[in-house]
Amino acid sequence: MAEHIGIVGAGYVGLTSAACFARLGHRVTCVDADESKVDELGRGEVAIAEPGLAELVGQGLADRTLSFTTAQAELYGADLVFLCLPTPPAEDGRPDLGVLEQVVPQLGRLLRPGCVVVTKSTVPVGTAARLPHLLGRDDLPVVANPEFLREGHAVEDFLHPDRVVVGTDPADSPAARRVARLYEPTGAPVVATDSASAELAKYASNAFLAVKLSYVNVLAELCERFGADVREVSRTMGLDARIGPEFLAPGPGWGGSCLPKDTSALLHAAEAAGVDFAILRDAVRVNARQRARVVRAVRQAVTGSPAGSLAGARIGLLGLAFKAGTGDLRDSPALAVAAELARAGAELTAHDPAVGCVPGMSAVQVVDDPYLVAKDAAALVVLTEWPEFRDLDWARLAASADRAIVVDTRNLLDPDALADAGFAHVGVGTRSRRQP
Ligand code: UGA
Repeated sequence: MAEHIGIVGAGYVGLTSAACFARLGHRVTCVDADESKVDELGRGEVAIAEPGLAELVGQGLADRTLSFTTAQAELYGADLVFLCLPTPPAEDGRPDLGVLEQVVPQLGRLLRPGCVVVTKSTVPVGTAARLPHLLGRDDLPVVANPEFLREGHAVEDFLHPDRVVVGTDPADSPAARRVARLYEPTGAPVVATDSASAELAKYASNAFLAVKLSYVNVLAELCERFGADVREVSRTMGLDARIGPEFLAPGPGWGGSCLPKDTSALLHAAEAAGVDFAILRDAVRVNARQRARVVRAVRQAVTGSPAGSLAGARIGLLGLAFKAGTGDLRDSPALAVAAELARAGAELTAHDPAVGCVPGMSAVQVVDDPYLVAKDAAALVVLTEWPEFRDLDWARLAASADRAIVVDTRNLLDPDALADAGFAHVGVGTRSRRQP
């Protein structure tokens, strides 16, 4: 049954949800306060680089199943309204609910009786239970339906989710079933539960991924001490179906717009509830240490000592985004490493296929041509796992570098191929310190 769906907020989650619900045959009205964004979207211009998203938006506009507006009033008549509003971390790491608290009462004044209000973007545990009060209405059923999509795979994750969770109080209510029905074409298993469990499940999943990554980053450090290879260790672990192969690749630390924000929010919530979530606190601490470890590895590569001075050293950075497949710089470990290197006096040139500039970071010169990063460089550092870095002409890079050594924080490159090109390679958690 086609529904009229309202989406509030045309950010990452909102825009993807809007375009995908239209694709699934519903009529979607997407509201955002940003007039220029709404104008752009109305013309089919999608600023977010997400495979398939611009096509779906274009299709929805052409079919007239998808529209964008700044007028909340157009949500009157919607059968379901999804809240896809930002909850960025405040100064102290707690989620800032300012936008939600401002918009929800406005919605309460205009939605028609019986309209189902759904929380989609990540909100603190207890938000769905608070919504009737914020809405000022008790005739609008509330459903917690957190989104699990990854940047760079947003459309694919939305249309082929591992699971769908719908939380209502009491669980498995008609409203929950109505929201679950929207996802029926995806064939995903549905968890119908209470709202607090649904909300916590989202935080729990992201926090678990963060713990898994910090675990493997410490393992990488151990491997370096023991002369073991973390790729072999994690491959072995990943073949255990109880552990699984995903999220076992060490790197410069985990980042992005979600994992840091959600771990911090969950830690604050746990503390407020009097629960010592030590394992998660430690995962965050290890993450900060991982960035410092990269800087030490660069010092070692450039000066021969983990404490050597980088003052005046020219260093080329390959990758700035928090992961490959996106130009997103929010909480990027690559930027954290760059900032540390700049503070240590290094002169930085960087290339990222999806990043043209780094606002507010004048110490990094961003170049379009990847070969420019090697010019007179004392070392190259791979910070984002863009596959195209493998295909660079490494002999050409070696010829223009001052010293042909690469610190590969993602274990992206083949040390043998690099040695053939004249490059020394320093991996993370590997024995690959091969000199040419
Ligand atoms: C994450 C979750 O994976 C999604 O399920 C969730 O919906 C989303 O947050 C969200 O809450 O909205 P995303 O932020 O797009 O998605 O990024 P991830 O793909 O999870 O990567 C997070 C970080 O872990 C990145 O810095 C990445 O480079 C790092 N990572 C990932 C590794 O260092 N090694 C790995 O093996 C995997």
